[in-house]
Amino acid sequence: MEIGTRVPDHGKITPWRLVVYQGAMREKVGRHLADLWQKKNPQADDETLDVERKRFLPAPVTIGVLARPQAHPKVPELEQMLSAGCVCFNLVHAAHAHGYAAHWVTRWFSFDTDAAKMLGAQDDEQFVGFVHMGTPEVAPQERDRPNLRDVVSYWHE
Ligand SMILES: Cc1cc2nc3c(=O)[nH]c(=O)nc-3n(C[C@H](O)[C@H](O)[C@H](O)COP(=O)(O)O)c2cc1C
Repeated sequence: MEIGTRVPDHGKITPWRLVVYQGAMREKVGRHLADLWQKKNPQADDETLDVERKRFLPAPVTIGVLARPQAHPKVPELEQMLSAGCVCFNLVHAAHAHGYAAHWVTRWFSFDTDAAKMLGAQDDEQFVGFVHMGTPEVAPQERDRPNLRDVVSYWHE
């Protein structure tokens, strides 16, 4: 988490904070997620609810990153959100550098007010990611990456 929070932060305003989910809390979170999902989707079958129950189980530790942008004369909200995003990516890098695997997700519960509140968000905060971390069981698979020629241009007059 020390590595994760060493991020660019215009104005040094720390526009983010972390919530850790670990141990027995992972099952409790899953139960609450399944309950909320069922309340919002009364037709949900047990298989779907089971997915919610198990959301936080595969990884022994998950770190939620909350952006908490504040009005600032020189630092627009976008910059503060980007700083929070940097925390997520730094957490991923830190985990991998220590030999663990990590996955940055948002999923529905970042954007659902009730779920976000249950997970620890206050009214003026927004989850920008949950970083699941654990011991890798499979080698990461490479995927197609954008061709630099398609995404890079060289400015000229
Ligand atoms: C803000 C953000 C939110 C994401 N949310 C999800 C998600 O909810 N579910 C998911 O499968 N991947 C999500 N991803 C993508 C994964 O982090 C990751 O990029 C993807 O699994 C591919 O892995 P790779 O980029 O290492 O190849 C998200 C990425 C970002 C930047």
